[in-house]
Amino acid sequence: MAVRQQHSDGLTVAGREALDLEKIELDCLLEAVYRRYGFDFREYAPASLRRRINRRVKLEELPSISALQDQLLRNPEVMQQLLLDLSINVTAMFRDPTFHLAFREHVVPLLRTYPFTRIWVAGCSTGEEVYSLAILLEEESLYDRARIYATDINEDVLERARLGVFPLARMQDYTRNYIGAGGKRSFSDYYTSGYDGAAFDRSLMRNVVFAQHNLAMDHSFNEFHVIVCRNVMIYFERSLQQRVFELFDASLARLGILALGHKESLRTSAHAGSYEELDAVERLYRKVR
Ligand SMILES: C[S@@+](CC[C@H](N)C(=O)[O-])C[C@H]1O[C@@H](n2cnc3c(N)ncnc32)[C@H](O)[C@@H]1O
Repeated sequence: MAVRQQHSDGLTVAGREALDLEKIELDCLLEAVYRRYGFDFREYAPASLRRRINRRVKLEELPSISALQDQLLRNPEVMQQLLLDLSINVTAMFRDPTFHLAFREHVVPLLRTYPFTRIWVAGCSTGEEVYSLAILLEEESLYDRARIYATDINEDVLERARLGVFPLARMQDYTRNYIGAGGKRSFSDYYTSGYDGAAFDRSLMRNVVFAQHNLAMDHSFNEFHVIVCRNVMIYFERSLQQRVFELFDASLARLGILALGHKESLRTSAHAGSYEELDAVERLYRKVR
């Protein structure tokens, strides 16, 4: 009877070899993307990267990750597509309504004490989070003394964010979120329904600047009173998370607020000692030193 050699991790020797090879191909592709286009995905969580890149390999009907690398190097359009694949743009208006409630409860009173606030929404995707924040600030009579800098690595999503037209099919869910988030008016006051979708009131964007910014590579560009970066670092490895925490720490004013996603935490950061928890569940932190 033929004996198939097995590794201690339960994989056959051939299976382990295939995985090792795939890892080399993946590392080479990420290095190539970085050197050719300057996008640095080398410290993104590998499991999700591998899944997304293999999906692109299949869709392009290519034999291997190396073949995709070859295409990427020569064709910027393939890079643009991969950027969309890798940047995972899932978002929603008033995503996690309890977070927005906590923001109203803990952050709004602090903002009232400032004559002017600069807010950075990092990894804003197609903008739903930014429109939600603008609505919340408007309802708290704080919007006219705020400026929101909304950034993302991906220029395509920023373009959609600037348009501010979101699918009508999602308005029912968003209305529910808005109510759960402590919304004070009728959600439909903020948009006009049309063939293309729900077009949000342009005046909501009067104090918003959208710009491309790469958290893995770019530097601080201002000092902020609030930084909101939700559901972005979850895709980063520990070392990249550390870089981003450092960037945020350098960009936050003393007593500034940092808001993370439900599955993200400052606890693992070297800066944890400089922050107090305003709300542990909603991941709201305040820089105290
Ligand atoms: C899952 S979405 C989160 C959107 C929004 N913050 C929310 O919570 O609904 C993650 C966003 O992070 C962006 N992103 C990923 N890597 C980034 C990087 N290195 N710099 C800036 N943005 C990045 C993606 O393009 C994507 O739009």
